[in-house]
Amino acid sequence: MNDLTCPSVITWTPEMSVGVPELDEDHRVIVSLINQLAEAHNLNDIVLVETVLDRLAVYVDEHFRREEAYMESVGFPGLQAHRHIHHALTAKVEQIRLDFFLGKSDSVGESTLKFLKEWLTQHILVEDMEYHPDRREAA
Ligand SMILES: [Fe+2]
Ligand SMILES: [Fe+2]
Repeated sequence: MNDLTCPSVITWTPEMSVGVPELDEDHRVIVSLINQLAEAHNLNDIVLVETVLDRLAVYVDEHFRREEAYMESVGFPGLQAHRHIHHALTAKVEQIRLDFFLGKSDSVGESTLKFLKEWLTQHILVEDMEYHPDRREAA
């Protein structure tokens, strides 16, 4: 069994902390939603996949807005570039949703789950980490 067929694809760890409790909590919820999506996929439960995909799209959008508001409030210099990354990620999630709803994919495939998992961990660990208060103080 590889990690994609395992119900829990990602585990939030303290190393993923961006130093802002509210945003860490958001990231934990996104991790949980991606895990739920993997579980729905494994169960081949199309209705559940649809429900979780909907929730994920809405939640990611809300999270990005909260994160951008935080970066703005602390005068984070990389805000504009970060906004562009968020836009691209939102578009990708929207595309996954549309493909699913238009019946181009019967279920959310393993490549989609792999993309979401990699995106999530990479974006948090690399790009989100840049606004960590400790990082900004050190800069
Ligand atoms: Fe971000
Ligand atoms: Fe984030």
